[in-house]
Amino acid sequence: TAKFNEQEHLTIGGCDTVDLAEKYGTPLFVYDVAHIRERARGFKQTFNSLGVKNKVIYASKAFCCLAMYKLLEEEELGCDVVSAGEIYTAIKAGMSPENIEFHGNNKTKEELVYAVEQGVGTIIIDNFYEIELLSAVLKEKNQKQNVMFRITPGVDAETHEYILTGQVDSKFGFDVNSGQATEALEKIIADDRLVLKGVHCHIGSQIFSAEGFLAAVEKMLLILNEWKTKFDYTVDSLNMGGGFGVQYTEADDPLEPEAFVKAIVNAVKGQCELLDYPLPEIWIEPGRSIIAEAGTTIYTVGSQKVIPNVRHYVSVDGGMGDNIRPALYDALYDGFLANRISTESPETVRVVGKYCESGDILIKEIDLPPLKPEDLFAMTSTGAYGYSMANNYNRNLKPAVVFVENGQDKLVIRRETYADLISLDCE
Ligand code: LLP
Repeated sequence: TAKFNEQEHLTIGGCDTVDLAEKYGTPLFVYDVAHIRERARGFKQTFNSLGVKNKVIYASKAFCCLAMYKLLEEEELGCDVVSAGEIYTAIKAGMSPENIEFHGNNKTKEELVYAVEQGVGTIIIDNFYEIELLSAVLKEKNQKQNVMFRITPGVDAETHEYILTGQVDSKFGFDVNSGQATEALEKIIADDRLVLKGVHCHIGSQIFSAEGFLAAVEKMLLILNEWKTKFDYTVDSLNMGGGFGVQYTEADDPLEPEAFVKAIVNAVKGQCELLDYPLPEIWIEPGRSIIAEAGTTIYTVGSQKVIPNVRHYVSVDGGMGDNIRPALYDALYDGFLANRISTESPETVRVVGKYCESGDILIKEIDLPPLKPEDLFAMTSTGAYGYSMANNYNRNLKPAVVFVENGQDKLVIRRETYADLISLDCE
């Protein structure tokens, strides 16, 4: 529900978006900090109200920068990183290294060395090569490291229509069915330098119901129980990954974020009771569900093209460089006019960007009132995987990002300059 002020301007976090556009230029990412805090606290409080030990670990890949990591630290969330670059940023922001967990199917030796040196809390081992690589790094440094390892639970892609990463045919993790997961366990517990804290799985992203998570919990506890019987080994922590869906358009109807947590916790409790397995600490790694709906992109409308009886194109000053998701995944978004309230009857238009590519479409079809050049168009729920996947295609500049809260705006990433564009070029 969009809020407009007396000037009939869209406001976010108590800030007038027309003022923000003037101050920082467009395209502009505006993040509602109160919404981020609410989501972060919602997850924590749900776990706590259910009386289970937990860790809520934000998936940095959805959006990160120094200010975001500072906010996570304030809200007592951990973070999941997938590169040394994310570790570097988190640490520069003052994030405690022990609250960082490091993922990835091909962490380089340099990255592992860096993570170990920085004291990263948990490294999530993804494959056999990494067991050896990390072990060698630790031997060199004469250090120990807390680890988890990632299991592909083989949640059937046929029965669940998700963007699955937990299926058998995946580049991530150890397969359960072929015995690889068990082999990994044996290798890891045999290595004194690898201090095993638990297991991880992640079944996919933008998931709307609890079903897939319940299936994954069942599979995970089944294998854990097998290991308890076989090796007398039980885990401290069970990390169920992220993937909770959000609302991009009205048609999207995901469970509330807290409902995912409740479903997971109840399923884990249920399975543990059934199998007489000690209740582990439960970890989750939400990215999108914390940050997506907090973000709005403000664009300025430019040219329009009406092809009679065919289509009406509205061009804005950004596009696939600041949000590649529509082009890459056919992702749907919603938006509206932000700088005035129009009572004119809407027309169906296609909102496109300024990039030299026909696929540079932001919204395929949307009903908007007649727009004029310099109108502001607010595209909603752009907070996840928008800026983080931004690029300099056509040498366009990456936008600025502002955090707004209680009527205050704070620039957290400045707009790129032309000088930035050539800063890496060598003559
Ligand atoms: N944990 C692991 C191990 C992951 O691989 C991911 C996402 C997450 C957590 C966070 O998932 P989330 O809660 O954000 O759904 N670029 C794509 C999404 C890729 C997600 C990759 N892994 C997009 O724009 O939709």
